[in-house]
Amino acid sequence: MLFILTLGQTRPISPKMETLVTLCSLLSLFFVVRADLVGQFEDVPECMEYFHSRKVPEYHMSTSGTVRLCQRFANRYHFATLYDTNRRIAVYSAYIFQPSNGGGRERRWFVEPQLVNQSWQAEMKDGYWLGRDHPGIYLGEKQALNEDYTHSGFDRGHLNPNGHHAVPGRNATFTLTNVVPQNPKLNQNAWRIHESQLTELFRSKCSKVYVLVGAIPSATNWIVKNNVKRVNIPDYLWNAFCCLDNNDKPIQGAAAAARNNADNWVEKFSLDELGEFLQQFSNQPVGELFHNNCMAV
Ligand SMILES: *[C@@H]1O[C@H](CO)[C@@H](O)[C@H](O)[C@H]1NC(C)=O
Ligand SMILES: *[C@@H]1O[C@H](CO)[C@@H](O)[C@H](O)[C@H]1NC(C)=O
Repeated sequence: MLFILTLGQTRPISPKMETLVTLCSLLSLFFVVRADLVGQFEDVPECMEYFHSRKVPEYHMSTSGTVRLCQRFANRYHFATLYDTNRRIAVYSAYIFQPSNGGGRERRWFVEPQLVNQSWQAEMKDGYWLGRDHPGIYLGEKQALNEDYTHSGFDRGHLNPNGHHAVPGRNATFTLTNVVPQNPKLNQNAWRIHESQLTELFRSKCSKVYVLVGAIPSATNWIVKNNVKRVNIPDYLWNAFCCLDNNDKPIQGAAAAARNNADNWVEKFSLDELGEFLQQFSNQPVGELFHNNCMAV
């Protein structure tokens, strides 16, 4: 058995922080948010387009400390992320596959200004320049920063992969809210190969593909900086897709998961199997990840 049943719930960092975060999410309800840090994905119609039939999974929607990001870059939206501000990694990113025309790799790493201060701009920004523009303000209270990853031994592993997009969507995947600490071997080998196999499949068979890519946090593994638990190192990465034909009819849905270690192994699943797998780590029903479980009606 590759996946060991784990029933232990991960704990919040500290009760104080949890209260703060809950307070913040309550407060945010009183703002009319038009921007990318949204109360609900439903608040931004463009953001709903990244979910098959505009159905947002119930999965982890009501977990405390999670926020919804409509990832905005170069004056438009590119994908959606459910982000855990306590662990400073995404729960998942949701996107539509785009055939890539290649192009270079974005060299910047973006952070989310609105996770620093809700009144700040609604577009991801190069962390370096945001820091320069706001000297003395710590950007990393609710999100991971580049400095957390340096010398950590972990890759900044994309959930929504840059290879599944054309520029500028490709650039937008380089936000630190879309990456998790990933074992370098897995990131550069089995997971990368899995992503390119999906690219082949999507290109050859699908007219449109909805994809979800997520991470299952660990109970105790963190990137620690100056004795502070900064970024949770997830135990697993998973993804799921729903492939449609040119009549918007689902023709194939499938999934996969990988242990985030040097085993370097990706296990292929059906959508139902992935649901069961995710359920092991959740005290709420996982529910359908795609409208009607990606089945033709
Ligand atoms: C996207 O990234 C490429 C490669 O680094 C770069 O040449 C291009 O200017 C970027 N696009 C935008 C809109 O920043
Ligand atoms: C957020 O930014 C605004 C405008 O720069 C500033 O007036 C406000 O004090 C900031 N809020 C916090 C909590 O730092």
